[in-house]
Amino acid sequence: MRVFVLAGSSRADSLNSRLAELVTGLVDRSEAVADLAHIRDFAVPPYDGDAEAAHGPPEGATALRDRVRQAHAFVIASPEYNASVPGTVKNAIDWVSRFRPQPFKDKQTLLVSASPSMVGGNRGLWALRVPLEHLGARVYPDMFSLARAHQAFAPDGGLLESGLHERLTATVKAFLELVEADTRYPCLRHR
Ligand code: FNR
Repeated sequence: MRVFVLAGSSRADSLNSRLAELVTGLVDRSEAVADLAHIRDFAVPPYDGDAEAAHGPPEGATALRDRVRQAHAFVIASPEYNASVPGTVKNAIDWVSRFRPQPFKDKQTLLVSASPSMVGGNRGLWALRVPLEHLGARVYPDMFSLARAHQAFAPDGGLLESGLHERLTATVKAFLELVEADTRYPCLRHR
């Protein structure tokens, strides 16, 4: 089982990249294989319908589409900007949504975030649910938001607070079990 993990920040020293790396490690310790990438790996201009009509989608959108398509499941670690989803992340989703078949449809998806704030970017994840659910992604009900993230990581990349580390581990495990059941028994899906 292949899980595409996308870090949604362009910053080199990103807290969300650290969280994405932690999730990648948890996935790799299960029977699944993680495929980690960063949003900056998929350079796309602001969505422009005229440019799309004239030139088709940019290479970055095609590459991101391929990574989403090749995975059984998708995890995104996204920052919160102004109580919402960063424009870069939404713009990338907009470009990818233009392909047919539409790549997010039926994709099992887990949302996580990290922020220095006390709420950990959770409002951004609620905003991120809207376009993904609109596109038919099966967004896992439980989300993980890491508060005070600048002080939360241990030198080995885990979380200093053992209860939090256990909660993230349990969330990823439960998500992967769902993905595996969905992959094995797609006929059980409710439509
Ligand atoms: C932020 N940040 C932020 N944090 C938060 O918890 N709620 C918010 O609404 C915002 N708004 C916001 C807007 C903009 C434009 C920026 C640049 C930043 C702070 C943000 O969580 C912090 O910079 C994180 O470190 C960003 O994630 P990465 O880059 O570390 O992954």
